[in-house]
Amino acid sequence: MYQCPLCHLPLTLQQNQALTPQPKSYTCANRHQFDCAKEGYVNLLPVQHKKSKDPGDNVEMMQARRQFLEAGHYQQLATAMLSKLAKQLPQSATILDIGCGEGWYTQQLTKLSSAVYGLDISKAAIRYAAKKYPHVNCCVASSYQLPFADASFDAILRIYAPSSAAEMQRILKPHGWLCTVTPAPQHLVELKAKVYSDVRLHSDEIAAEQGFTHRERQRLQWQWQAPDAATLTLLMDMIPLSYRLTPAMREILCQELPILSLDFYLDLYQSETPSA
Ligand SMILES: C[S@@+](CC[C@H](N)C(=O)[O-])C[C@H]1O[C@@H](n2cnc3c(N)ncnc32)[C@H](O)[C@@H]1O
Ligand SMILES: [Zn+2]
Repeated sequence: MYQCPLCHLPLTLQQNQALTPQPKSYTCANRHQFDCAKEGYVNLLPVQHKKSKDPGDNVEMMQARRQFLEAGHYQQLATAMLSKLAKQLPQSATILDIGCGEGWYTQQLTKLSSAVYGLDISKAAIRYAAKKYPHVNCCVASSYQLPFADASFDAILRIYAPSSAAEMQRILKPHGWLCTVTPAPQHLVELKAKVYSDVRLHSDEIAAEQGFTHRERQRLQWQWQAPDAATLTLLMDMIPLSYRLTPAMREILCQELPILSLDFYLDLYQSETPSA
């Protein structure tokens, strides 16, 4: 499945007979080599493709997201996503989670298939994902240069992460599926109102993905109240708005424990056959 990020030839897994601390590595015919970390992931992000030293979400955001998701607060979102994909996919489907973070949603995909891949540009997030979820094939890479062969996936999941439509279409099989989760207009509007006097709602437009046909949209909306200040703090720490919530605002919110609107769009797209 993996292809070399430098020369694009297929990568094959080499078992290291010498039992050195690095038990395995991937190599291509041009002898580019990528070692597997002890946690089981492979780093396929060459230094020359990095725009910063530590790209992607930071450890604090990722840890907050892990604790929050593990407590099940977004379980209904994951369940809706799984049932949407289950309707379309064959039993032995190959699925990639782009921008998978610490892997909670990626792990859910293993209920649908045994060939699940998670990719993220953040090494810290992938290390966490690989350690906790050994059945997920994890790699550090950029969603703009996917280190996979053409036409190797039945489906891609993308939850709040950047991507390239051309790259997604390249690695999907003909008529493969793309499932996206994005914030809908009312998402966390009560928190935004604390920060902005003029609250701008998320768009309700369906984003065009070049080379894909939009097939269906589901809106998932519910009211949620944190059971305690610690849980609300996790939510505040894992969202982009985090940087704008001052300590004073956080304190008031933790005392009030307001009822919050959670609002998501799940969109399903299908890859069009590329013209020859
Ligand atoms: C908001 S988080 C969502 C994580 C996960 N999908 C979830 O919902 O729990 C966005 C993720 O995209 C990753 N990311 C950002 N830019 C990326 C890129 N160019 N390629 C791959 N991943 C990227 C970040 O490191 C982060 O883990
Ligand atoms: Zn190579």
